[in-house]
Amino acid sequence: MNPRRLRILITAGPTREYIDPVRFISNDSSGKTGFLIAAAARRSGHSVTLVHGPVTLKPPLGVRAVGVTGASDMLAACRQIWPKHDVLIMAAAVADYSVAQPSNAKLKRTAATLKLVLIANPDILATLSAARRPDQIAIGFALEDRAGRRNAESKLARKNLDAIVLNRPTAIGADENQVEILRRDGSWAAWPVMSKRRLAARLVELAEQLAEK
Ligand code: CTP
Repeated sequence: MNPRRLRILITAGPTREYIDPVRFISNDSSGKTGFLIAAAARRSGHSVTLVHGPVTLKPPLGVRAVGVTGASDMLAACRQIWPKHDVLIMAAAVADYSVAQPSNAKLKRTAATLKLVLIANPDILATLSAARRPDQIAIGFALEDRAGRRNAESKLARKNLDAIVLNRPTAIGADENQVEILRRDGSWAAWPVMSKRRLAARLVELAEQLAEK
């Protein structure tokens, strides 16, 4: 039997937090995994919205793409559209901090030292998950360089998720990935090394399974 047609919201890529009009803080996320999940979900016949930060990738055909810049824009876009979706797959590498007072004019190199005050960004996944209906599924990612399982377990609980995809910093920009999946019932599954394209298809299957329940 074919799984039912789901409305899937996927986030992808980095966010960019501006210091002045030409400089910003960001990270190395390419957006590849999120874009591949969007393509896989579309191929499986689902209706897909892809909210993405600044990336060089082209959104897959048939996917509704919404480009954003900072974490606050990503939250605003997602908040508006999340109620019309069944599943959230939060693959974006959201910057943890933004600049407290970005300058409207390009900063000049006048002082010998420059202090930037940063403020914590909202946790988009936790915010959307806290506001979800019982029928909505939330899947997050955990990028960990140490104590992976322990950190992923606390993230799943803190962000109130149905499942979390644990991966390592070596995944960034790579074509392959090896992940472990933690479900809400506490069970772990270690998936073999696979292409990000294959991983994307497997994650769509996971979303379908979780949405069936
Ligand atoms: N995330 C989010 N909003 C943030 C930070 C992270 O929605 N401001 C999401 C990510 O998209 C990912 C999950 O939360 O799905 C975990 O992200 P990660 O960077 O591993 O963890 P953080 O919550 O940022 O915690 P830490 O940096 O302390 O590990």
